[in-house]
Amino acid sequence: MRDLNEIFGLEGKVAVVTGAASGIGESSAEVLAQAGARVVLGDLNAEGAEAVAKRIRESGGQAVSQGLDIGNRGEVDEIVVRAAREFGGLDVLCNIAGVPFDGLLEDLGDDDFDRVVGINIKGTLYGCQAAIPLMAARGGGSIINVSSGAIDLPVANYGLYSITKAGVAQLTHTLAQEVGDRGIRVNALAPGATLTNFTRRRLKNPDGSINQESLDQFVGSMESMSPIGRVGEAVDQAWLVLYLASEASRFCTGQIWRSNGGATTGR
Ligand SMILES: NC(=O)c1ccc[n+]([C@@H]2O[C@H](COP(=O)([O-])OP(=O)(O)OC[C@H]3O[C@@H](n4cnc5c(N)ncnc54)[C@H](O)[C@@H]3O)[C@@H](O)[C@H]2O)c1
Repeated sequence: MRDLNEIFGLEGKVAVVTGAASGIGESSAEVLAQAGARVVLGDLNAEGAEAVAKRIRESGGQAVSQGLDIGNRGEVDEIVVRAAREFGGLDVLCNIAGVPFDGLLEDLGDDDFDRVVGINIKGTLYGCQAAIPLMAARGGGSIINVSSGAIDLPVANYGLYSITKAGVAQLTHTLAQEVGDRGIRVNALAPGATLTNFTRRRLKNPDGSINQESLDQFVGSMESMSPIGRVGEAVDQAWLVLYLASEASRFCTGQIWRSNGGATTGR
């Protein structure tokens, strides 16, 4: 029998993680490094990404960081090249950075549409395009995109965000068909409500502090949608990222993975 640590581990692998300064990206970078991967962390918040990379290095892992706007193709190309230069190649790409958008579809203007599509869809595509040749050169790899539970449950005021995340899901399905012959697997997470800065942004007082009553209400309402009564933590997504990055998921591609406490199952 093979050693499970070897099958689920990432010793000798190189990963790029976008959105790595906070939330799901931060936790994923930490978990991948803990599993043995050498990690390149990218984020618009360059200082935040470096703080996470430093923490990984201080706990014995290998990590570097770089400022990155995934909406800029040149910057996305650069971070992938950095992985090759610094660590010799690329095995895993976690396209985690993304932005929310609140607003009714009937009021949606071109500038907002282009900006959010430019980050959530085009930014994800840029990452995939940059990664494919490097992964193919190594005989394969794993691309992990981030869609959202919002593709299953339409919510008023959240239309543009859902449209972009549905786009990421379709990109994932199709790209998996196109690059499978080069040994590259492409999967996406569709996270349920996960407590990060992303969800907390709506729960703040005017001075920027968290409004405890709004937080409790939000958590209660998310827990009530889950058959197991849970709201997610970033690491709940990161452990799924680890599975999808590792050999343990070698038979899985083109799928949308729903770590969401079962919130969409009874509907
Ligand atoms: N938290 C949730 O409930 C939830 C649910 C479904 C999907 N998601 C998705 O998960 C992903 C991560 O979200 P999170 O909850 O960890 O949020 P977060 O706000 O904690 O982290 C997002 C990170 O992405 C970075 N970022 C934003 N725009 C960027 C850009 N253009 N280039 C590079 N970096 C950029 C931010 O600086 C931040 O560090 C997003 O794609 C989000 O849409 C989150």
